[in-house]
Amino acid sequence: MDVRICSANMFLGGTSYLGELCCIMPSKTVEISPDIFWVGVEDWNRRVFDALIPLPYGTSYNAYLIVGNDKIALVDTVNPGFEEVLLEKISQIVPPERIDYVVMNHAEPDHAGGIPKVLEIADKANVVSTKLGVDMAKLYFGVPPERTVMVKEGDTLSLGSKTLKFTQAPWLHWPETMFTYALEDQVLFPCDFFGSHLTSDKLFADEVSGILLPEAKRYYAEIMMPFAAFGQKALDKVKALNPKIIAPSHGPVYRNPQPIIEAYEKWTRGPLEKKVVVVYVSMWGSTQTLERTITKAISVNGVEVVPYNLTVADLSHILRDLVDSSAVVIGTPTVLGGAHPLVLYATELIASFGIRGKVAAVFGSYGWGGGAVKKVKTRLQEGGFEVIDTLEIRGPPKPEHIEKAFALGKAIADTIS
Ligand code: FEO
Repeated sequence: MDVRICSANMFLGGTSYLGELCCIMPSKTVEISPDIFWVGVEDWNRRVFDALIPLPYGTSYNAYLIVGNDKIALVDTVNPGFEEVLLEKISQIVPPERIDYVVMNHAEPDHAGGIPKVLEIADKANVVSTKLGVDMAKLYFGVPPERTVMVKEGDTLSLGSKTLKFTQAPWLHWPETMFTYALEDQVLFPCDFFGSHLTSDKLFADEVSGILLPEAKRYYAEIMMPFAAFGQKALDKVKALNPKIIAPSHGPVYRNPQPIIEAYEKWTRGPLEKKVVVVYVSMWGSTQTLERTITKAISVNGVEVVPYNLTVADLSHILRDLVDSSAVVIGTPTVLGGAHPLVLYATELIASFGIRGKVAAVFGSYGWGGGAVKKVKTRLQEGGFEVIDTLEIRGPPKPEHIEKAFALGKAIADTIS
């Protein structure tokens, strides 16, 4: 694999961002297969995605340049603000003006936001995307219809010595998404699918430390879990293609794809673990006493239990645990006639994120008027959960409440055992 590193003075005269980046690391391109180059960028300092998802390790926007002996294609671009870095990297390989096609696997701006600038420089280039993608390219980026090429399942595009094949892969992560496959090189470009929000100076998954799989799972939970059914169909297509390399548009590139394919198999349709996630808030200790009793009951009945106090927990860690948990238990005090706001937020995510373990229980406490438990139960049922037990008590738990809490925990453990 060829790694090309530009000299520091290539940044002179660049934006302040480039100057800052230059101090951290050199600009590099990486040849991941003959004449197929990673020209993406690392966003080390980004800390939130979609105004929701924490990015403790930043993220990367992977773009790939495919140089055929007749035509040149750029697969995906970069987040707005990084266009100049992208163009500078491309220029290390070919003049950007020579790009013939910009393949837009996905219209979300972290990948497609650089399209207007690339089309401005590569003024003969056309955007290649699905029917809905072409529509979104116009909507979001003002790409005129005459500068688009619409593709559908199985269509191919010849670059001369390279052939691109397109696969419909809707809802991974938006409805317009597709995969691109470099046929001769067996390189799959699935954009968000198989991605991870993990910035590293190492491009390949086998060079990155053991943090990758947990981060890939957290990414899956946040981005793909609501669309697991579509992920299953896409996985079957991926396995039929038999790629040698999977090159997503976030995080490391897999030159041995089998482990991440197997992980996605497990996460989308594999057996669930004998594991229960307990999420709760307690204001004055009553709900927490119930939580400790329930947690203990689950554990002593032979089931793994993972408690999360929402005042200190990271919701993305909770979602990651829920990828393969069999049940969830939610605890809340009643606040202003309903659930605690942190529980409301968590319940909404849990009810709407396509969690496969659909067994639940709800518990809580109140001082003068309850009702929170019923509201959480209703929202979970709307999300398709079977709520097998509830417990709501007034004031600090008495011995009979502890007994009921223990029974609730045992019931959950027995149901999934
Ligand atoms: Fe990485 Fe759905 O954008």
